[in-house]
Amino acid sequence: MLLGHLLHLNRIDSVIIENRSREYVIERVRAGVLEQGTVDLMIAMGVGERLKRQGLRHDGLYISFDGRRHHINMAELTGGSAITVYGQNEVVKDLIEARIETGRPLYFEVEEVSVDAVDSSQPQIRFLHEGTVHELGCDFIAGCDGFHGISRPSIPSGFLTNYERVYPFGWLGILAEAAPSSEELVYTYHERGFALFSMRSPKVTRLYFQVPPEEDIENWSDDAIWDEMLERMTTRDGWKPNVGLILQKSVTPMRSFVAAPMRFGNMFLAGDSAHIVPPTGAKGLNLAASDVLVLARALKEFYERGNTTCLDQYSDICLRRVWKAQRFSWWMTSSLHRFTDESPFDHQRQIADLDYLTSSRAAMTSLAEQYVGLPAEVSFQSAGL
Ligand code: PHB
Repeated sequence: MLLGHLLHLNRIDSVIIENRSREYVIERVRAGVLEQGTVDLMIAMGVGERLKRQGLRHDGLYISFDGRRHHINMAELTGGSAITVYGQNEVVKDLIEARIETGRPLYFEVEEVSVDAVDSSQPQIRFLHEGTVHELGCDFIAGCDGFHGISRPSIPSGFLTNYERVYPFGWLGILAEAAPSSEELVYTYHERGFALFSMRSPKVTRLYFQVPPEEDIENWSDDAIWDEMLERMTTRDGWKPNVGLILQKSVTPMRSFVAAPMRFGNMFLAGDSAHIVPPTGAKGLNLAASDVLVLARALKEFYERGNTTCLDQYSDICLRRVWKAQRFSWWMTSSLHRFTDESPFDHQRQIADLDYLTSSRAAMTSLAEQYVGLPAEVSFQSAGL
C-alpha cells in the first residue's frame, strides 16, 4: 500500500492485489511502533494527518529488571527523534483511503494468485477475483505478500540463500480494555521470562509475555494471563499494568529470517516476504517501509531516465539495513528473554548486560538510535517526495 502510494505520487501506474478482505486488514491488530523515519515518510507522502492527531509519540522507554524500571530518554539521546505508537492496521486504513481517492486499482479477496515469466521483461500475474480470472502483464512485480506469500516460493530453488534462526519461545499477546498505566513502553526481564507493556490508545493496553513456542492459547484463561502479567511486570515501587477486559489474545512464534538477494528477474521482494525479525526490536513494519522507499526510488529512476542502476542496487541497499535491524532485534531478544538451555553464567551475564545498558550513556544511546531507527539509506527527495 505504501509503495502503491509512492508510485502514484511519481505518476507510475500500479495494481494492488490482496487476498484478505478490507475489513480483515483494517481490524487485525498487528505491530504498533513506528520509527521516526516511518512517521516522517507518512507525513511527507501526505497520508499522515490522522497519524499526527491520534499517534502516541513516545520520547523514551523503560527497561525493567530486578523489580526496577530504568528510563531511557531516546529523544534526548538522539537529538530529538522518537517513536510513535500507531497500529499497523491504522496505517493500512489510511493508505486504503488514500488509494481509493486516487481511483487506482486495488482488489481485495483475490484468490489463486500466481506469477509467471518473472525473469523476462514481461512478467505476469494471474489471480481470481469475484469469479473472474485476471491476467496482468507488467514491467515489475513487487512481492509484498509476507512470509507465507507466493512471491518468494515462486523463485527457483537454489537461487536464494536463506538465513534463519528460530527461538525457543513465542509471545502470548493480549489487547485489553484498560487505560495504559505508563505513558511509555516497558520491556521487562523477569526470572519467569520476558514481558512487554505497550498500548494502542488512551483506553487500550497491549501486553505480551514469553511462553514456550508451541503454547496453545486455550491453556490460558483470562485470569491466568492477568496473574502471569502482573507477576512479571509489577515493580518494587508498585507500578503495574491496569487490568481490564481482554479483547483479543494469541500466541506468535519468533524467528529471524533473511532471504537474499531480494530480487529475482523483475520481481522485487519487500518486507516480510524477504525477512522476518522477532518483534522485540519493533522493526518489522519499519523495515518494510524502508524497503519500499528504496524500491520507489529505483522505479522512479527507471521510468524517468531509463536508468536501471538503482534497480540493480535495490537488494544490496535494503540488505544493509535489514541486517542491522536483524542484529538489533536478535540482541534485544537475547538480552530480555530466558533461554531453556541457559547456564547460571549466561543468566548473570544477562543481568550484567541490562545493568550496563541502563547505566551507561553510550549503551543507552546505542539502543536509542537503533530503536528510533537508523538513518534511511535513500532520501525522500530521491523517491520523488
Ligand atoms: C506492540 O505494541 O504491539 C509492540 C511494541 C513493541 C514491540 C513489539 C510490539 O517490541
